[in-house]
Amino acid sequence: MSPKLSVNVNKIATIRNARGGNNPNVLNVALDCERFGAQGITVHPRPDERHIRFTDVHDLANHVTTEFNIEGYPSEDFLQLIERVKPHQVTLVPDPPHVLTSNAGWDTQTHQEFLTQIIARIKQTGARVSIFLDPNPALIASAKATGTDRIELYTEAYAAQFHQDPAKAIEPYVATAKAAMEANLGINAGHDLDLHNLNYLVKNLPGLMEVSIGHALVCDALYHGLQNTVQLYLRALKLD
Ligand code: PXP
Repeated sequence: MSPKLSVNVNKIATIRNARGGNNPNVLNVALDCERFGAQGITVHPRPDERHIRFTDVHDLANHVTTEFNIEGYPSEDFLQLIERVKPHQVTLVPDPPHVLTSNAGWDTQTHQEFLTQIIARIKQTGARVSIFLDPNPALIASAKATGTDRIELYTEAYAAQFHQDPAKAIEPYVATAKAAMEANLGINAGHDLDLHNLNYLVKNLPGLMEVSIGHALVCDALYHGLQNTVQLYLRALKLD
């Protein structure tokens, strides 16, 4: 089974917000991504609502028919949003409120107790939980102990090194994925994945179940159109 594609529509909201109206319409873009074959939609609402707004999350939750994944730092507001919306998956990221984009995974050793409590609360909504993690097999035992179902491997470092030496770039990811599989954790991946680095990841990372992709996919859509772009990503996700 090829990994699933979850399209992160944050950037669509960024473009919309630049002019204050409702163009492009985030909900319509998400539903079109589904129609073009994406198997999930991801949003990352931030406390300042600078791209996705909490109202977008409600709209999307009411209409998305594939897997709805909400990422974010587990603040009280975020947790209450999750309790209202009940998405299929919640991906926890450790970033402070005003960073531009996620820039590290959880230190699951230091924050094991905190994550354990948060994850127990989220699981009462019925959502699957994933935690954003740097590629480091030493983090897997403490990640498992939090009760999470999956990890999302933070692929920024892979993407940055891919063009010099793909085999070296993927090494820590393979080691972490193997440890995750042994611990019976599911594996997602995301950040800076694009049409150049995606297929190599898919073919070389054992157990990959889902990728979430936003920035590069929206940039590619400027040249290829959204339908072709979603299909190009689906093709890049194929194992054969
Ligand atoms: N995963 C997480 C946790 C993220 O914060 C982001 C960016 O919002 C992504 C995946 C997607 O990254 P990109 O926009 O580079 O595809």
